[in-house]
Amino acid sequence: MAKRSVRDLEISGKRVFMRVDYNVPMEDKDGVMVVNDVTRIRETLPTLQLLTSKGARVILAAHLGRPDGKREPSMSLRPVAEKLSEMLGKPVAFVDECVGDKAEAAANALGNGDILLLENVRFHAEEENNDPVFAARLARLADVYANDAFGAAHRAHASTCGVARIVRAWGGPCAAGLLMERELKFLGDELQSPARPFVVILGGAKVSDKIKVIDRLLEKADTLLVGGAMAYTFKLAHGGKTGRSLVEKDHTGTALAAEAKAAQRHVGFHLPTDTVVAELRDTGRLNKKGKPLLEPVNPRVVSGDIPDDTEGFDIGPATAATYAAVIAGAKTILWNGPMGMFEDKRFAEGTLAVAKAVVAATQEHGAKSIIGGGDSVKAINKAGLGDKVTFASTGGGASLEFLEGIALPGVEALDEA
Ligand code: 3PG
Repeated sequence: MAKRSVRDLEISGKRVFMRVDYNVPMEDKDGVMVVNDVTRIRETLPTLQLLTSKGARVILAAHLGRPDGKREPSMSLRPVAEKLSEMLGKPVAFVDECVGDKAEAAANALGNGDILLLENVRFHAEEENNDPVFAARLARLADVYANDAFGAAHRAHASTCGVARIVRAWGGPCAAGLLMERELKFLGDELQSPARPFVVILGGAKVSDKIKVIDRLLEKADTLLVGGAMAYTFKLAHGGKTGRSLVEKDHTGTALAAEAKAAQRHVGFHLPTDTVVAELRDTGRLNKKGKPLLEPVNPRVVSGDIPDDTEGFDIGPATAATYAAVIAGAKTILWNGPMGMFEDKRFAEGTLAVAKAVVAATQEHGAKSIIGGGDSVKAINKAGLGDKVTFASTGGGASLEFLEGIALPGVEALDEA
């Protein structure tokens, strides 16, 4: 169901309380926290430009990290306000609270077209509890509610749901921002009746994390290409050897059931035929969980079984070539999850080959390519190809839940168009 859009609102002089997802990677540089990746900020700029050009007084609410209801200086949104101001080319006010007199005074001091960013809403435990009193305090800053935070829409929190309920009770509008609209269009509407062939590429660590998405997409896809560590659980299910690879022994049945469904629905189902493996060397150090830190060494390509003393880290070149050929014939592509441990360049080739094939299909054959958020977006950005696909979602968990067909509370809270 289409949602009411900020495009259609009369908002001149009104206080528009907008939830955004500015949960961006931060880095400590000589004791100063700096924004490491501006993607989520950049993607909200069109909505902000629209709202300010219409004369709205914009109050932005966001979270950063998981401070568990406590004030945590390293998770302050102040550096984000500075970055946003730099990117917009105009001042963005910041207030180190999100509720109460100080926040209200800052919101009421805005002129038409001004922007204020509130401090991290998760500094209050009531945010994640969707506490109605806290939501009412936030709602004191709002005449209109807007949500551009698709990435946080799977959370039923005060700023994603509670405020909307209160604004609606007053008779105020609750509308989707332009980014939210695009996310719903590409991850939702466009995949309802995709141009065919519709090729789905799924990777990531665990079958159990992706099984609901697999199950749902098997209703729509023409071909499914599987990569990442979850492919090893499929291999195990077929009686193959997986060495020291990450496998889910109790999900081999799930894997076989997915393949059976694919066969029944005549969906092409591809598993890797070769793998980049490596031996594991003990570094003598401990990881964050206090377990021995193992380092992959001597990478090599194997076909078929994975040797006992090795772990799989990427799809091999033969698999990458097969997958690229399938992708070349696609008219719609959905990609969620990398093909291997792309953060290590020795194991990034498979993911890179898929990224290049997706871009070629988009640019040369007019395919619509949708990257379903999280690590696959990181991978395609790392390859410098993020702007050459049709759409890259800003969601992580939210994209996955949406693709599973789950109604997201932050979307449900918005008015119907
Ligand atoms: C994300 O980064 O996926 C969103 O901002 C949601 O963050 P959360 O998982 O901490 O709720």
